Amino acid sequence: MKQLLCRKEGIKKAAKIIKSGGLVAFPTETVYGLGADAFNPRAVARIFEVKNRPRFDPIIVHIADFSETERLWSYIDKRAEKLMERFWPGPITLALPKSDIVPDIVTAGLSTVAVRMPSHPVALNLIKEAGTPIAAPSANPFGYLSPTSAEHVREQLGDKIEFVLDGGRCPVGVESTVLSLAGKKPLLLRPGGIAIEDIENVIGKVEIAPPTSARPQSPGQLPRHYSPRTHIKLLTGKSEREGKKVGLFAFTPPSQKEDYEVVEVLSSTGDLVEAAANLFSSLHRLDRAGLEVIYAEPVPEVGLGRAIMDRLRKAAGSS
Ligand code: TXA
Ligand code: MG
Repeated sequence: MKQLLCRKEGIKKAAKIIKSGGLVAFPTETVYGLGADAFNPRAVARIFEVKNRPRFDPIIVHIADFSETERLWSYIDKRAEKLMERFWPGPITLALPKSDIVPDIVTAGLSTVAVRMPSHPVALNLIKEAGTPIAAPSANPFGYLSPTSAEHVREQLGDKIEFVLDGGRCPVGVESTVLSLAGKKPLLLRPGGIAIEDIENVIGKVEIAPPTSARPQSPGQLPRHYSPRTHIKLLTGKSEREGKKVGLFAFTPPSQKEDYEVVEVLSSTGDLVEAAANLFSSLHRLDRAGLEVIYAEPVPEVGLGRAIMDRLRKAAGSS
């Protein structure tokens, strides 16, 4: 009961800060977001400053009410309607042509705006209480691991923002799937919390955006991103071992643990949903362990495994 009350007060406080143009980190089902009032360009500009984020990077707008899409997007097509009905609230972000009221700083000058309705009750209540859509990237310094707990945020950005709203651990643990519906064919810009197979079941074939371009549509497409500070190497068949203090990032419990200083296991049963939920917190722990190298074991590339492998390749700078 006490916790519930505290949470209510926390949400009130956070909403007040958002309304007055401040920044708040808040939990979503995927990762923690660094939020500002989406209609306040000065507040949004501060997000870039705090994250040290390049200007070309557009920000997702979070809503708590379906009708908000009507003022954010200039049109809504059938595919978007179907996907919203099936997956919202939840970890999929849709990009469609923006309306004039969306500030350019939110979209980094793009003609589309990416919108999602998170399913985390704290996020939904915060957006409702603030009475405005909340623009929020993940609450990490640019290029670093996404935070899946309030503690991660405090460590990385705590002294730079007004408030961290603590909602415990993020249950999904990888960022939302980002899908562009601006063109004729649906285009996957970032694999994430909703598997591509499930999206295709609703709207048919989805194209996959090439990993890099000169001006990426989505920074999630940059080759090195979501990286820990420690060097990370993807294990291939027989990797040459380097370094003395070596950590293992394993999908399932390894047969040989002795060779490693620290071992993090994503799922004891090989469950990809559990693995995704543990992905960033395991990487954070390994990164804090003072290792020379982290060896990462690949996971099967089906369902959420695609999003996990995407993040691992980016953490290793190898895609
Ligand atoms: O799960 C998530 O999506 C989390 C939580 C906080 O909602 N947010 C998140 O935001 O991961 P961020 O900024 O770290 O990643 C958003 C991705 C970026 O790759 C960005 O370029 C892309 O979405 N994006 C945003 N707006 C876009 C747009 N209009 N067109 C294409 N890509 C866009
Ligand atoms: Mg991010």
